[in-house]
Amino acid sequence: MCGIVGAVAQRDIVEVLLEGLRRLEYRGYDSAGVAVINDSQNLRRVRRMGKVKTLADAIAESPTPGGTGIAHTRWATHGEPSEDNAHPHVSGDIAVVHNGIIENHEKLREELQDQGYTFTSQTDTEVIAHLVERELRDSTSLLNAVMAARSLLEGAYGMVVINRTDPERMVVARSGSPLVVGHGIGENFIASDQLALLPVTRKFSYLEEGDVAEITRTEIRIFDAGNEPATREAHESDVEHDAGDKGEFRHHMMKEIYEQPVAIANTLEGRLVGGKLNLESLGDLSNIDQVQIIACGTSYHAGMTARYWIEELAGIACNVEIASEFRYRKSVVRPNSLLVTISQSGETADTLAALRLAKETGYDRAITICNVPGSSLVRESDMALLTRAGAEIGVASTKAFTTQLTALMLLTAGLGRANGMNKESESRIAEALLKLPALIEKAIGMDGAIKDLAEHFAEKHHALFLGRGDQYPIAMEGALKLKEISYIHAEAYAAGELKHGPLALIDSEMPIIVVAPNNELIEKLKSNIEEVRARGGELFVFADEKLSIRPESNMKVMSVPHCDDIIAPVLYTLPLQLLSYHVAVIKGTDVDQPRNLAKSVTVE
Ligand code: AGP
Repeated sequence: MCGIVGAVAQRDIVEVLLEGLRRLEYRGYDSAGVAVINDSQNLRRVRRMGKVKTLADAIAESPTPGGTGIAHTRWATHGEPSEDNAHPHVSGDIAVVHNGIIENHEKLREELQDQGYTFTSQTDTEVIAHLVERELRDSTSLLNAVMAARSLLEGAYGMVVINRTDPERMVVARSGSPLVVGHGIGENFIASDQLALLPVTRKFSYLEEGDVAEITRTEIRIFDAGNEPATREAHESDVEHDAGDKGEFRHHMMKEIYEQPVAIANTLEGRLVGGKLNLESLGDLSNIDQVQIIACGTSYHAGMTARYWIEELAGIACNVEIASEFRYRKSVVRPNSLLVTISQSGETADTLAALRLAKETGYDRAITICNVPGSSLVRESDMALLTRAGAEIGVASTKAFTTQLTALMLLTAGLGRANGMNKESESRIAEALLKLPALIEKAIGMDGAIKDLAEHFAEKHHALFLGRGDQYPIAMEGALKLKEISYIHAEAYAAGELKHGPLALIDSEMPIIVVAPNNELIEKLKSNIEEVRARGGELFVFADEKLSIRPESNMKVMSVPHCDDIIAPVLYTLPLQLLSYHVAVIKGTDVDQPRNLAKSVTVE
């Protein structure tokens, strides 16, 4: 989604801002812009539709140096993608970049227009620029003007404001949209994601909800929601500097698929020691009678898989719900309930809102399974089980998903142990997890064969994914991957549902992808396969190598390495990721930044 970078320095910071924007490109955007104040106190703004490269080319043609500046990549919410709607927005001497949505922008716009302000965009953000400009007339400082302006705003924002007449400072404010301050030497920075600033600093402070900060070259003053001075600890980041590089791979997504054996090993580090589960870091999981999992998209599919595990292995009742549904309905909270949020980014607006709501409604404890240390979900939960997948740049979630599943299996073991799980079950989980990185490596070995298989999908417009039990969510995840990066309409069904409707769709034009591990449901799944074959459907079956499913006319069978059934959902994810990747490459879509999608969905 939208990205923010800002800097106050003595040197020319334009290249720092542009590099920051490049590093945020993965979040998804449709236009980009920069505003800088130069030594002669001129405010110059450049905005372009499309990629950061177009913006950089425009700046290269007409250089615009300056020591204080703000930059932005916009993902349109209010107003079409256009140069006029791109940020920064300017009002008099004020320039603003903003992530989030101002919900009362229409009322504010009318009020400001009545007071003589002219609007040049359709955005909600432009009201912030005019409001700060107006408040500055009666304020002694930009800081006070921003504090006054934000008290009039409803909705979500992470914003950065600069003033042409006061060039050596920026004022930033956060409410519902993340901002991180980067500490430099004789220069300081702000960004919506620390990745943007890794080339210039590794020292970061996360702003908290309601914070406002005044940032100069030598000083960072932070105030809380009540405008009282506040301290926000600085952390050294351990994210790799080159986390945004694709290395030898053509796309981030493929790099991230191949990184999964290492990412999963990282998730397990210190938590599986000498073949034994070390679950102390999960905190107190005793006296839990009910688990409620909340997440969106791929993370929701991880939660759906975990429900099977938690009920079967830990013996605890478990519900899973999409965050945007959970937050807008009345739900009943039983005593001794654990809330589990799952999120790659830790900033997904609906998941965060659901956590906040749940905390008010009587959950005993809240744990988050998250990939980003220091993210809002991590900070606001009682406990965090970090997935340690490393930065995930591709919009399509891959290593974040399999590491979430790994962490959820650890959580299942923790819950089980606290609920009297027997030693055999615990050893079985430990052994399955121990073998997992090597098994994933083996599954990646299917890449060449899956690339050939992908040719069959190039001309297709629809696809159906089938699974049963804990593989049903994996079928859902396979369908999501295919639709989001190849734009092929794909749906997933629990195979037992076929007769209840979707069988009507089957003909020779409909590819059906079946996930068939070697478990107690296999005979039932084989019957489903026959139902599809009998109606002329084209089948692609991913089956355990030990199963005797033979290829037939209209049925291709891909052997998947044999594994313990409890961990099979993680393993079967791999071939489906590879399939969607190769189909997307054949179709020539933008694999890493699919149309209309954003990596981190910070608005609801
Ligand atoms: C999946 O490939 C998508 N990127 C999307 O569904 C994603 O999982 C969802 O937006 C949730 O994001 P989160 O894990 O960062 O909360």
